[in-house]
Amino acid sequence: TRPVLISPSILSADFARLGEEVRAIDEAGCDWVHIDVMDGHFVPNITIGPAVVKALRPHTKKPFDVHLMISPVDLYLDAFASAGADIITVHPEAGPHIHRTVQHIRSLGVKAGVVLNPGTPAKMLDYLIDDVDLILVMSVNPGFGGQSFIPSQLRKIEAIRKMIEKSGRDIRLQVDGGIDLITAPQAIAAGADVLVAGTATFRGGPSAYADNIRALRGG
Ligand code: DX5
Ligand code: ZN
Repeated sequence: TRPVLISPSILSADFARLGEEVRAIDEAGCDWVHIDVMDGHFVPNITIGPAVVKALRPHTKKPFDVHLMISPVDLYLDAFASAGADIITVHPEAGPHIHRTVQHIRSLGVKAGVVLNPGTPAKMLDYLIDDVDLILVMSVNPGFGGQSFIPSQLRKIEAIRKMIEKSGRDIRLQVDGGIDLITAPQAIAAGADVLVAGTATFRGGPSAYADNIRALRGG
């Protein structure tokens, strides 16, 4: 099995010092940087846009994993790609044509991911799996950090792991929401290989980030 990657969600960082926070998680050994983009319409919270992604880009060489929780989404793909996104993940509910959206992301030279909300079935992937680089299972309803992991999503992770094996394709399986030292090993055992963690990465401040990331990886 492949090593598990850690993608800290900067939603839990100090927004007044975002550049420094991104440098700190880079130095602490994160693999990717998870950037939660929310519009106050698709989800009940507002965060950051392409200008902030662009401003963060010089602070690290690690891949920017940009999770778009905005609707309509298609209008903004080019802006996030040129701001420096390496991976863009989109929800099928955020536009009328998810397959076209995924193709559009790939045409920009960016890796494409599809995100399933807790109520969205794995079956949604049947006709998308051949066209994505990553699948993200939400283990909370999107909108806020610090929520509790929804245990039923472990079964979905197991089912999607089987679909990925069957496809024979190189697809990352990411989990996002309520990942901590109890739920991280559960998600990994179910088949996840990228963990998003906001609260569990940033708790304790910069001097704790390296230990937090190491612990999430499994010590
Ligand atoms: C929720 C976001 C998550 C969130 C995770 O809408 O997609 O990335 O920041 O935060 P924690 O790890 O605190 O649950
Ligand atoms: Zn996220």
